[in-house]
Amino acid sequence: MKTIVVVGTAWGDEGKGKITDFLSEKADIVARYQGGNNAGHSVSSGDKSHYFQSLPSGALSDTTINVIAGGALVDPKGLLEEIDRLNNPHLKLFISNRAHVIFPHHLEIERANEALKGKGRINTTGKGIGFAYSDKYFRIGMRMDIFTGDGFYEGLKSLIEHKNREAKMYGIKPFNVDEVYSEYKVYAERLKSMVIDTSIYLNEAIEQGKKVLFEGAQGAMLCIEHGTYPYVTSSSPTAAAVPLYTGIAPWLLEGSIGVTKAYMSREGSGPMPSLMKDEKTIKHFRTMAEYEVRTKQYRRTGWLDAVALRHAKRVGGLSYLAVTVLDVLSGLDEIYICNGYKLDGKLIDYVPSNIKDYERVEPVYIKLPGFKEDISNIKSYDELPLNAKGYLKKIEELTKTEVCIFSVGPKREQTIVVKDVF
Ligand code: GDP
Ligand code: IMO
Ligand code: MG
Repeated sequence: MKTIVVVGTAWGDEGKGKITDFLSEKADIVARYQGGNNAGHSVSSGDKSHYFQSLPSGALSDTTINVIAGGALVDPKGLLEEIDRLNNPHLKLFISNRAHVIFPHHLEIERANEALKGKGRINTTGKGIGFAYSDKYFRIGMRMDIFTGDGFYEGLKSLIEHKNREAKMYGIKPFNVDEVYSEYKVYAERLKSMVIDTSIYLNEAIEQGKKVLFEGAQGAMLCIEHGTYPYVTSSSPTAAAVPLYTGIAPWLLEGSIGVTKAYMSREGSGPMPSLMKDEKTIKHFRTMAEYEVRTKQYRRTGWLDAVALRHAKRVGGLSYLAVTVLDVLSGLDEIYICNGYKLDGKLIDYVPSNIKDYERVEPVYIKLPGFKEDISNIKSYDELPLNAKGYLKKIEELTKTEVCIFSVGPKREQTIVVKDVF
């Protein structure tokens, strides 16, 4: 396949960054298509590592061209800080003229809104994502074209007038147009030369036979359309969203690699039916893979949820799976997979739409034998212990999807290809 998307199959943090970085060696272009700096993609290769937020995870490479497409959001301050932190003099980045800009009011109003919601809050990443997307859909948002071109001041003035009505409602200090303008003008100057029509760029590249790797942020269970609403993000991370958000024809995307950890994890609020309950097991999964850099906290963990994976496949399409963090399973006597839910005593094989129902479902598990060997240094599928092979086979069987990659550690070098698909 020449155009492929790496998508998250659950509640984010599945290891998309790591898989994208690994595949980016073969890609001409790596493109983010949704979300913003709510993403946190940890990548580590040799002596290089980076925590990607706005930038595509191809940006460690000196040759790959990176694109932030129109469906994504750009926090100019966050993006520039990230570019400086990455410090790759060979970085090539294009940003869509249609991508919407995140301003301080998005962050501050979000903070006030979350505080007001109290117990019912989403526990967002605090990056202003929901409020920037709502400005977009409310048709008052500002895009990169105006931000870095003519009309920035006038546009900002009318946007802030509008936002100050909201600020009043939330009881927060009004925003000052001139202050925001003078800070953001500097960012606009730095980003200006990167802003292009990325739809034209991507279409031309695909026509020329270039290899394009799209990188999703978040995951199917956080999808605004198909996720565990309202505990979701404000965009769609699925493969279906790629054409819409990037401006390519749907049939130009040839397939997807759904990334899943060998178990589940979730940060933020919202239910996860296969949540681990036993203290010893919870402790076993408190590894660096579950340490969230942004919040400096461990995520909640759950057993692999095959119902959620089948849901991700149904609503978004998964051509192949990449299974990450297999190494962390080592040392367990038994491994569980949730293969159904019970709702009011009835067995179901779908994700109920009503969040109240989803909060009540009980997991139905199948049990597999564990393995004890340390697998973090293995280089091939053949070296896996029998029970680890059996576990991967079971995932394939339950999802009717082939595993093309698995990984046994956070480093690029700890990634093993079972089938070459890109
Ligand atoms: P993303 O948001 O989907 O890119 O995933 P994150 O980077 O937020 O979270 C995945 C975490 O697991 C990170 O800390 C990675 O370094 C780590 N990780 C990825 N793959 C593996 C693996 O195979 N084994 C281990 N132990 N850690 C991994
Ligand atoms: P990556 O790309 C994990 C979660 C937040 C919150 C909800 C809404 O690293 O997988 P938002 O700030 O988007 O409005 O938050 O979505 N969330 C993520 N959880 N990984 C992510 O990104 C996430 N991005 C958002 O915790 O529950
Ligand atoms: Mg992450």
